[in-house]
This record gives sequence, C-alpha cells and structure tokens, in this order.
Amino acid sequence: MCLTMSELCSLRLRGEGETVEVIDQTLLPHQLQWLPLASLDSYCHAITSMQVRGAPLIGITAAFGLAAALAKDPSNDHLQVSKAALLATRPTAVNLHWALQKIETCVLPLEEAQRAQAAFICARELREQDIEHCSTIGEFGCELLQSLFDKSAGETLHVMTHCNAGWLATIQWGTALSPIYKAHRAGVPIHVWVSETRPRNQGAYLTAWELQRAGVPCTIVADNSCGYLMQAGEVDCVIVGSDRTAANGDVCNKVGTYLKALAAQANAVPFYAAVPESTIDWSCPGGADIPIEFRDSEELLSITGIDDAGELQTVRLAGVDSRGKNPAFDITPAALVSGLITEHGVIEASSAGLAQLRSTLASL
Ligand code: MRU
Repeated sequence: MCLTMSELCSLRLRGEGETVEVIDQTLLPHQLQWLPLASLDSYCHAITSMQVRGAPLIGITAAFGLAAALAKDPSNDHLQVSKAALLATRPTAVNLHWALQKIETCVLPLEEAQRAQAAFICARELREQDIEHCSTIGEFGCELLQSLFDKSAGETLHVMTHCNAGWLATIQWGTALSPIYKAHRAGVPIHVWVSETRPRNQGAYLTAWELQRAGVPCTIVADNSCGYLMQAGEVDCVIVGSDRTAANGDVCNKVGTYLKALAAQANAVPFYAAVPESTIDWSCPGGADIPIEFRDSEELLSITGIDDAGELQTVRLAGVDSRGKNPAFDITPAALVSGLITEHGVIEASSAGLAQLRSTLASL
C-alpha cells in the first residue's frame, strides 16, 4: 500500500498540541507502535534508546521534552537541569543543541507562568519548519537527480543511500530521501540501493520500510558490497544525511559513510550530503572537532529480528568471549563531497561554500 507524504510522519501531536506521540523505531519494521511521551525521563529514554533517532527528529523531540519539563516546573534551575539531561542523551547530532538553544532563548526573557506555553509554541514551530525545510531540500535535490537522469539516457536512475535519513529521521520527507521521493513523484524511474548499516541496521530496518510504504523501488545490500556496486557501474549517485556538518564542509554521518565517499570518488560517482541549516555547526572548524558517539558493543555482537512465531528476539552473533568496539559515526572530509543539498540550494562543501551560505543567511 502506498501512502501519501502527509500520512508518513514520525512525530504527531495530540489534543492542544502539547501531547506528543512518536513511532517506536526500535520495533520497526516488524511492529508499528506509537509511543506517548510525557515526562522528561520518557523523552530522554526515547532518545538514548533510539526509539527516536536521526539528527533532526532528535532535535525536535528534545524541544518538546524541554517544553514538557517546563510545564512541570518553569524555574531557571529546572530549565538548566532538564536541558543538561536532554543534551546528555546523544553527543553527535548538533540538532539537539540547536533545538534546545531555540527553546531556551525563547523562554528565558519570559515570566515563569508563560514559559511552558511559549516553549510548546516554539517546539511546534520548529516541527513545522523542519517539514518545510526537508521539502525544499527535496526540490533542490530532485533537480540534481533530474539532471543525472537526463544523462542516463532514460534508464533507471540508481541512487545509493546509507543509514536512514528519511521521514523517520525527521518529521516528514527526510533529508537524503526527500530528493528521492520528489524525483519518484516527478516520474523519474528511480531505484534505491539501501545499505544495511550495521550494526543497528537502520538501512535494512528503517529506510527499506519507509521507501516501500511510499512505493519507491529499493534493494537492501550489505554494507560491504557498496564499493563493488559502484565499480560495476550500478550506482549513479550517492546521497546521505548528516548529523553535524563542520564550518569547513566536513560531514559527520553514520559510520560507514566515509567508506562510501572514498569508493564514490574512486569510481567518479557523485556523492552528496543533504544538510538542513539546523545540522550545520558554525562553531566547529572541522570534522576532527566533532564528538563521535561510541555505543554499547552489544549492538555489534548481537542482532534483533523476529522468529517464526513473529516474536522479536535478540540473539548473540559473536562468541561469548568476543569483545567489540562500536563508533556510531564517522567523518567524511569535504574534499570527497560533491555538494551539500541545503534548503537554501546546493552549495560547495568547503569553507568558502559554508561562509557564503552564512553571509546569505545573515542578510535575510
Ligand atoms: O544513530 P542514528 O540512527 O540517529 O543516525 C542517523 C544518521 O546517521 C542519519 O544519517 C542522520 O541523522 C541524518 S538524518 C536526516
């Protein structure tokens, strides 16, 4: 069944817009369950446990979490403690800092009695803005894909992506997947290579699921096969998301992105990162300054799926005495990136490209 983009949404609002429900992404693709979030603890747990994940969605969820905390206690002390708790959930995605800063800036000048309501209004605005920006990224990215399709003499356009940077990682549309959705709707015969994205399998579990729900043809491939597919001429373009983009254009994204960028350059395959402004860290000079999250090695040493009875099970893959190391992100140097697809247009991944965008934004 194909659903429309307005039906594909990761975080919905109930009642007066102060009750939040998210899809529990740890259960996908096997179960679709909406999870109500109310207390600060439930928001922090949802982000830490990756019931919600993806840089833009982490940011918006945290914004609602801070608003919910202010509804309990709007004092400055509670604001700072709650903000710190949310900031501690995951270190890499800069959207978390960005969104919490927006809420803090909005409420600090206000009387305590007005803070919670103002914070919820601000969080709802960030949510709306995210939908709009992702849609615009899709328009710019679609133009790029259209031009590649023209060159491919009418053959199917094969786009590779990594991890999940679709509507499950944002509110709607996604970043890297938005151009794909828009091109598919514009009639471009598109097919997506979905790399499984070990160890948490966001590609196999989430990206394939959401592309199928929108009717976009896709095939899951092992992470290790992506270089081969590029070498064999089966990839026209790679588009990935970003968790933090440095001021020099270096892109931090899900671990494994860097290897794809190296293979893309070696095989003359265009490699783009889709990057909303909320993912740019202007204070970060280069990729080496981005904090990389290291997650529990159990994620690597075991795997979760369903058994024949349809029950979710986690089984051990590696020997019981094996140890693992699990960096969750890596840095793709700007030199390997063909361009950054932003809501302000496609820009060069370089200090000059970013500086030009910054001065354009300052003049708006
Ligand atoms: O660890 P995750 O699943 O939160 O990582 C997500 C990614 O790496 C995405 O590619 C990134 O957040 C871009 S989301 C539009």
